[in-house]
Amino acid sequence: MNFVTLSRSAILSCLVGILSAFSQVTFSGVAGTREQLSLDRGWRFHLGDASSAEIDFGYGTGSPFAKAGEGVGAVRPEFNDSSWSRVNVPHDWVVEQPFVRSDDNDVQSHGFKPVGRRFPQTTIGWYRRAFSVPGSDSEKRIAIRFDGVFRDCTVWLNGHYLGRHMSGYGEFGYDVTDYINYGGSNTLVLRVDASQYEGWFYEGAGIYRHTWLIKCNPVHIPEYGVYLKSTVSGDAASVDLRTWVQNQAALEGECTVKSIILDGEGKPVASNTGKGIRIPPGGQGDIVQSLRVPHPRLWSLESPRLYSLVSLVLSGEKVLDSAVTVFGIRTVRFDKDEGFFLNGAPVKIKGVCCHQDHAGVGSALPDRLQYYRIERLKEMGCNAYRTSHNPPTRELLDACDRLGMLVMDENRLLGSTPELMNEWETLVRRDRNRACVIIWSLGNEEFKIQGNDTGRRIALSMMAKLRELDPSRLCTFAANNGNQFEGINSVLPVRGFNYLAVTDIDKYRRDHPAQVLLGSEEASTVSTRGIYTNDTIRGYVCDYDSVAPDWGATAERWWKFYASRPWLCGAFVWTGFDYRGEPTPYGWPCINSHFGIMDVCGFPKNNYYYYQSWWSDRDVLHIFPHWNWQPGEKVAVWAQTNCDSVELLLNGASLGRQHVPRNAHVAWSVPFVPGSIEARAWRGSRVLVDRRETTGVPARLVLASDRETIRADGEDVSVVTVTALDKSGREVPLANGMVRFIASGEGNIIGVGNGDPSSHEPDKCTPGSWQRSLFNGKCQLLVQSGLLPGTIRILGSSGGLQSDSIQIRSAASSPRPFVE
Ligand code: GAL
Repeated sequence: MNFVTLSRSAILSCLVGILSAFSQVTFSGVAGTREQLSLDRGWRFHLGDASSAEIDFGYGTGSPFAKAGEGVGAVRPEFNDSSWSRVNVPHDWVVEQPFVRSDDNDVQSHGFKPVGRRFPQTTIGWYRRAFSVPGSDSEKRIAIRFDGVFRDCTVWLNGHYLGRHMSGYGEFGYDVTDYINYGGSNTLVLRVDASQYEGWFYEGAGIYRHTWLIKCNPVHIPEYGVYLKSTVSGDAASVDLRTWVQNQAALEGECTVKSIILDGEGKPVASNTGKGIRIPPGGQGDIVQSLRVPHPRLWSLESPRLYSLVSLVLSGEKVLDSAVTVFGIRTVRFDKDEGFFLNGAPVKIKGVCCHQDHAGVGSALPDRLQYYRIERLKEMGCNAYRTSHNPPTRELLDACDRLGMLVMDENRLLGSTPELMNEWETLVRRDRNRACVIIWSLGNEEFKIQGNDTGRRIALSMMAKLRELDPSRLCTFAANNGNQFEGINSVLPVRGFNYLAVTDIDKYRRDHPAQVLLGSEEASTVSTRGIYTNDTIRGYVCDYDSVAPDWGATAERWWKFYASRPWLCGAFVWTGFDYRGEPTPYGWPCINSHFGIMDVCGFPKNNYYYYQSWWSDRDVLHIFPHWNWQPGEKVAVWAQTNCDSVELLLNGASLGRQHVPRNAHVAWSVPFVPGSIEARAWRGSRVLVDRRETTGVPARLVLASDRETIRADGEDVSVVTVTALDKSGREVPLANGMVRFIASGEGNIIGVGNGDPSSHEPDKCTPGSWQRSLFNGKCQLLVQSGLLPGTIRILGSSGGLQSDSIQIRSAASSPRPFVE
């Protein structure tokens, strides 16, 4: 169930739609049934200390576990936190820390930030938030939900210990009805302990996803309590539903569930009232329904049409609870010989793996950035996203549902104990109604157990749970053990290959013809945006499609292999975007990876155009490198294009026309003379042109935002790209000067980045001191709206250059409902 994927106005229009269709339900009755309020604003934050109880606000002293409500130190409601900083979540405290040089492999793979067991002073985070609950809520059930806290988090309310959640990626929550001060103030406290890593990549730390207070009737739909499955036959879809209702009232009662399906315009297209059930106090019941949607508008990559299921728990005519589940109607099929099918048509999976951090904000992404990133991938022709190596945030999946992106939804740690099975189960229950999710992944590269019987048994247990929870989808596992079949691979319906360089995939197919085959991870091509020679000192890799570690492959190599084998469903590139940590093939000074097709900001590297050429249906022609060299230097000029042939001209003189082989690039070796190189390409009857000119020195800055109007909801973001032009208006490809920013009006800068894998400049600056160097001509700043409508002005200046400023309109918009 997804209470938040629709905007408030969309939910409202759903409800208005229901009202007009079912006049017996009163509006106030519907709106009053359930409130999901954001707790994101107004936290107090302070770093603790893992090595000393005194500076860890008394944690570990006293007897908080001896008697209920006897939390000590900062856990106590009356603790004075007025000197702590004020933060809103999503919040990642690691992104604010300086880089530290270290030989430690863990520190390197996590992006050289002082987090983990070796850094006790910057590894514990305390969060406190006061909120009030009116006395009139005392008959309701009250719950809190955390969408993601990294990690090992103990939660306290009004001095009471609520629980501990270890995983940094799974969501969790508590029914806190018994602990609330009704009509008074409440204090929620989290101690977050990032001493232990989970991944081998930057993970951040803190409450880095949304937080919620949920109030509902004692008779209500529990979290994940709506499950739907649609099947299409002929010109209709059948939507099979199961809705659970929990009775936490003191008496047995009878209720039923009315389920209404609304189309994308909010018009009811199907409804059904289930038969009444009696539920004893403390019990749970479920109602099974089947709704027929005539002429369904299918969810597809091109038209990701969504429906909303409104579930109303009714007692007579009274609405006790309501939930909105956004879903799509589509069919998916994996075939061992023909690959993957969406809505009956073959679709090659042109996917990317991604970690969850972005420039400027670390792992605490405002929702808009999820959309920004998926939009960049869609433009490239990418159609699938693997949430490597962990459950994603809900908003990433919202973006995939709404923009049309297939998802391989991945679990974190392989395991079948109650704790680990709970993480798996929560992931599946949470995401199984999603149109975008086409396959689950049990995990990734479990070196110790992927090839043995322990791995096999755990996989079987997880798969049994999956069959119970979601029989409609298959699962895979991202295995890097080549042709080995023993262990996990032997029980999987879909074999996921991590890297063709370590597998004889053709032989595997011959040996195991019954298995569906998919590249769970390919490429690992390394490059640095705008760099054209490998530089082992500064840690840059040239931006041609030429370097990969021994387990990886160039884009051209792996894609040619997969494209020519129809029985391979496709694959996921490691990775769509650079991410912090894993600086392969170098170490310090590199602090982030080079694997991305785009850098950490989402600025394309040259391989972006290779994929766009062969993955999208756009006309693509992209030549590189830039045209600023030393006279006489031999320059390798490449064209990435899906045209039939390309001619290259140097200062107007032809250097020859070349046929473009399928799934390949063309190249020339050109001795540099200043001026221009121009490519002319032919695709059928169309002619495309791309050129690079020798530029002068930077003369002025240009700021450009991805959206000129954003919502004044305190969360929306405009992504601003900064470039430098010479006096003739040409982008200067090697500009690297420092740019200073001043923001004024109704918004703030929340982060800066430039994609330089070796930059140690901060992503977060103090108010009034925002700055970032250009890296190879570009940097990025993220501008967030406030709660007041108006104009946000950003001025960018850089010594000796003409400054530029932009205005972003922040338009009146209601913020999500939040708790004071
Ligand atoms: C894979 C691994 C990824 C990443 C990648 C780098 O083996 O699954 O997480 O480390 O290598 O090439």
